[in-house]
Amino acid sequence: MKSADFEGKLAVTAKAVGAFLDDILQSHQLVAGTPQKLLGAMRHGVLNGGKRLRPFLVIETAKMFSGDSKAAMQVGAALECVHSYSLVHDDLPAMDDDDLRRGKPTVHKAFDEATAILAGDALLTLSFGLIASCDKIPAEARAALVVLLAKRGGAPGMVGGQMLDIQAGDSRSEIEITRMQAMKTGALISCSCEAGALLSGACDDDRARLRRFGDTIGLAFQLADDLLDEYGEAEVVGKATGKDQAKGKRTLGQIYGRRALQDRLDALESTAEELLEPYGERAELLLEAARFVVWRKH
Ligand code: IPE
Ligand code: IPE
Ligand code: MG
Ligand code: MG
Ligand code: MG
Repeated sequence: MKSADFEGKLAVTAKAVGAFLDDILQSHQLVAGTPQKLLGAMRHGVLNGGKRLRPFLVIETAKMFSGDSKAAMQVGAALECVHSYSLVHDDLPAMDDDDLRRGKPTVHKAFDEATAILAGDALLTLSFGLIASCDKIPAEARAALVVLLAKRGGAPGMVGGQMLDIQAGDSRSEIEITRMQAMKTGALISCSCEAGALLSGACDDDRARLRRFGDTIGLAFQLADDLLDEYGEAEVVGKATGKDQAKGKRTLGQIYGRRALQDRLDALESTAEELLEPYGERAELLLEAARFVVWRKH
């Protein structure tokens, strides 16, 4: 499959996820009692484009294990809510102070800072409601999904990684940078793959294998993000570039150079392929997703 074909498939899923999230954000249950301004900011933060890679990983992993497709969409949407909230907060002046996200003004620019903070909070809580109310998933697996997301999205995962990121100076070692990347970005990507297996009732071995696959492509994803920050163009990437250096953030690209990082991405691609080997053709789209993560230009 050519990369353009894969991006076409990703775009089809992105559209379906967007429509699903739009429905949720219009549902009576949510709209009744939610202040209009908050709802507007939540919509801006989550319905503003985005590749929807995390839902794609949930949905394709679930497909591989013959999981329920509606349940996969709902859990994927929950992961996207957490991811989108993390971006809304990541862009705040107190964090990366960015004006552009997904090719549009960031939420605090389109609204204001306090509203952006609250919109992020509301997207996060919405995500847990989406999982807990998904009655297509047996209660035990649903509870396990909530625990998984709490861990990977929270202090030992994404939030902790963001803490390490803003604490870091320009003297970080390779090990420290890799740990930070695995937490701030890898945790939610890995959670998406594991969640797809979990909601489908996959066995513990498969769950662990998908977690490792997710860890591998999660790391590759942030390495590629840092490369795009350094060498990409804002119009293509949809967000400002050159920010890491401007903020004094040491990246592996700065330590090893572009070439060595590409080699590392190559190695991560091979590891991802090996991890999917037992699933043969059933894993074709996940394999393509891994290649996309490594070679992406946006
Ligand atoms: C951007 O994630 C933030 C990182 C974790 C590096 P994506 O590149 O998946 O952003 P969207 O969702 O497509 O906008
Ligand atoms: C993002 O890292 C990690 C998150 C958890 C949001 P970055 O700060 O590098 O992401 P971008 O480049 O702003 O999308
Ligand atoms: Mg950041
Ligand atoms: Mg940022
Ligand atoms: Mg970045």
